[in-house]
Amino acid sequence: MRIISVKDYQEMSRAAASLIAAQVLGKPDSVLGLATGSSPIGAYQKLIEWHKAGALDFSACSTANLDEYVGLTKDNDQSYAYFMRQNLFDHINIPAERLNIPDGTNPNAAAECARYDKVIEELGGIDLQLLGIGRNGHIGFNEPADVFVRGTNCVQLTESTIDANKRFFAREEDVPRQAYTMGIGAIMLARKVVMVASGEDKADAIRATVQGDITPYVPASILQLHRDFVLVADEAALSKLDK
Ligand code: F6R
Repeated sequence: MRIISVKDYQEMSRAAASLIAAQVLGKPDSVLGLATGSSPIGAYQKLIEWHKAGALDFSACSTANLDEYVGLTKDNDQSYAYFMRQNLFDHINIPAERLNIPDGTNPNAAAECARYDKVIEELGGIDLQLLGIGRNGHIGFNEPADVFVRGTNCVQLTESTIDANKRFFAREEDVPRQAYTMGIGAIMLARKVVMVASGEDKADAIRATVQGDITPYVPASILQLHRDFVLVADEAALSKLDK
């Protein structure tokens, strides 16, 4: 594990975007595993800026997003498909047919999870997986559980996650209760994992991830076993680590 310690969200975003840019420059047909949420937005803005300046070409890349809410269409402004278009895809040049995200409108969870696992397999796995982290240590929407789940799965979101995500919805009851998420297997098989974490409300989760026991009750803790895991975090997120 490598920890890149930065001052604040802005520095975190630039450092994470630099890692992604290095990946794309080194392997133009990279498969990028992408995340939503507030943590990666700044990194996406940097990538857009560098693309617009002519420094980054994504035309040979493919993507696989981590997760999607069950029941939301791609046009729903709270869907992760919509988020990705707004915050990245509409502003760079990855061909639309190579953008992959679980289909929240498929009511058949088993079929959708199997389809998405096949998509990832056919892409040849993920070259660089970008992750945020939940306050409870979740990655993707793999919530604390009795076991690490290997494949794409349909999860019941925990109260902690619903509470954290309600800020994006008009009312708490509008927050979907289920999501499809890439499993821990695909994340661990990614050739490089970059996690971004900013702010004091992530400090407990970061401590448990970096210095705690490896347990499915803190899903991110399994990343201690990943051979190329880079944590890019600001001072507040790192503030509870033992020195
Ligand atoms: C999003 C995702 C989640 C978020 C996590 C942190 O695709 O998979 O695991 O990364 O909930 O969210 P933010 O960044 O909003 O604090």
